[in-house]
Amino acid sequence: MDTALREKLESIHQQNVLRFYDQLNSESQKKLESQLRALDLDHIAELAETQVKEKAALPLPKNIEPAKAYPREADAQHRGLYHDAEKRGHELLRQGKIGAFLVAGGQGTRLGYDGPKGEYPVTPVKHKPLFQVFAEQLRAYGRDSGKSIPWYIMTSTVNDAPTRAFFKKHNYFGYSPGDIFFFEQGMMPAFSMNGEMLLGAKDSLALSPDGHGGSLSALNRSGALEDMRKRGVEHLSYFQVDNPLVHTIDPLFLGLHDLTGSEMSSKTIPKATALEKVGNFVIGDGKLQVIEYSDLPEQLALQTNSDGTLRFNAGSIAIHAVRRTFVERLNQSGRLELPWHRAEKKVPYIDENGKEVKPDKPNAVKLEQFVFDAIPLAKNPIVYTTDRAEEFSPVKNAEGVDSPATSKRDQTRRAARWLESAGIEIAKKNGEPDAEIEISPLFATSAPQLRTRKLPMQRVGSGEKTYIEG
Ligand code: UD1
Repeated sequence: MDTALREKLESIHQQNVLRFYDQLNSESQKKLESQLRALDLDHIAELAETQVKEKAALPLPKNIEPAKAYPREADAQHRGLYHDAEKRGHELLRQGKIGAFLVAGGQGTRLGYDGPKGEYPVTPVKHKPLFQVFAEQLRAYGRDSGKSIPWYIMTSTVNDAPTRAFFKKHNYFGYSPGDIFFFEQGMMPAFSMNGEMLLGAKDSLALSPDGHGGSLSALNRSGALEDMRKRGVEHLSYFQVDNPLVHTIDPLFLGLHDLTGSEMSSKTIPKATALEKVGNFVIGDGKLQVIEYSDLPEQLALQTNSDGTLRFNAGSIAIHAVRRTFVERLNQSGRLELPWHRAEKKVPYIDENGKEVKPDKPNAVKLEQFVFDAIPLAKNPIVYTTDRAEEFSPVKNAEGVDSPATSKRDQTRRAARWLESAGIEIAKKNGEPDAEIEISPLFATSAPQLRTRKLPMQRVGSGEKTYIEG
């Protein structure tokens, strides 16, 4: 080990991570060294003091007001703007100025799936994995605009190799491999409660992904931003891996984002319940921002307007449009200045005697950055309202709300609605489609597009499993 690194660790009181260094073989020594070199150690020292030893709760804004959002459908006031925005969105796509950005650092653990979450089979008839749903949609949008869409996919250290292998095994789901840019997100060490970095093994820090906020620095570090510049990509259409109903590309939303000069735009839906586990768009001390469900004081979350609707009703579904020059600006200082969210967790570690300890209560602090914390730093950020039934049914839990079962139900419901809008009759039971229905994104990415297609049937009968191929 070079003395400079050792001295640096000593100077920030983190030399304990080298406790077993001399017993390690050279490969293991190199591994630990490269993990340490990947960290900004001055920053680690600062975080250990300010975020770990001190239980610094993120300060909430003093004044929290509901955020205003653009309506889903254009009213008289917005008709002209929405018309221009949709046109602009299509133009941006034709000119190759839109890239897709999927953050897929997470694993399917909560779903009982031991692998990248994007591999999870999610559609009701063909059981397509999430990655395939997104790939086919993006191919369809690229085909329709005549310009293929560069696709940036953020993985994490644990799932990068499996994710790449999965895409390769499936021939990139028909995507051109040259248009997919995989890159890994950053990792953060877990800290003991007294601020020391923990070892997960004698030759490894206890590392975990640095949150999807880290995507904004990983874009820079990985060369993805450079790739965007070369290709002339001006905006990223950002989405998360768990929502098969997402419209990965939405010309109206992207056009609105561009025409309003917004640096970071977001989609919202009215919340299902006051305490639904989604972020809340608010104006905090005059600035648009998201307050996570766990941080919004319950007494605010429960407030209602005089007509009984929720006062804080704008839920975040983690769909954003982000201007490339904004990401460049955020990275200018060399350090992404987003707040760190602190969580106390049970993290297995190697103690000073070299024994592995599996704690039964929280023993460590993990720090993560959240992508939506960039919104208050953006110029002219806007929020646009969409429809839950059309665009949000994530798979998060093995059972109950936001599970594979509810998502499949919602995918079938949406497909049924699209077909009904094209005059197809759907067998119903208690008002629900009595069939399982799946429409390939390559056939149609929206109800209006579906209505322009020649449909292979007149009706969907009881108990049928219907797949409409693209
Ligand atoms: C998230 C949002 C919440 C929003 C909801 C909508 C946070 C903290 N909260 O909740 O405001 O209403 O989605 O579904 O994000 N990811 C990475 N790297 C990481 C961490 C996460 O790539 O280090 C990715 C995951 O693969 C996933 C996404 O980010 O695609 C969401 O992360 P998750 O931790 O599941 O967030 P939620 O609690 O579901």
